[in-house]
Amino acid sequence: MIWKDEYKIGVELVDQQHKELFKRLGNFIQNVRSDKEDSEKKEEVEKTLNFMGEYVAVHFDAEEELQKKYNYPDFENHHQIHEDFKAEVADFQRKYRENEYDEDFVMEFSGRLLTWLIIHVASTDQDIGEHINNFRKKEEELN
Ligand SMILES: [Fe+2]
Repeated sequence: MIWKDEYKIGVELVDQQHKELFKRLGNFIQNVRSDKEDSEKKEEVEKTLNFMGEYVAVHFDAEEELQKKYNYPDFENHHQIHEDFKAEVADFQRKYRENEYDEDFVMEFSGRLLTWLIIHVASTDQDIGEHINNFRKKEEELN
């Protein structure tokens, strides 16, 4: 499992979704590295890509809803980062479908995906957690 508890941002829903993303990506990489037949791998990769494409969108929406709810000041910038990432996944999906199964191509992409996810979750998303939890603390103090 590539997930680490230190990646938590302290917001339950977001942490759960991040954990799921790491789990899926871990399985994805394991599958590509396995000694299964290419045809079997191709099918698995296809399935995971479809799932990831949808799940990433659901997750980003949920995260952005929270940012709006708590007036997160860096919302616009964060939204753009999410949009760029979705575009990158969609671009890969398109190239993947157009070509024969190419392990190097898939490995390179999954490596980029993993790096992005770690940096994003371990750093960029931490600011949201801090903002939301400060907000909640202040709210509690007022009540
Ligand atoms: Fe994010």
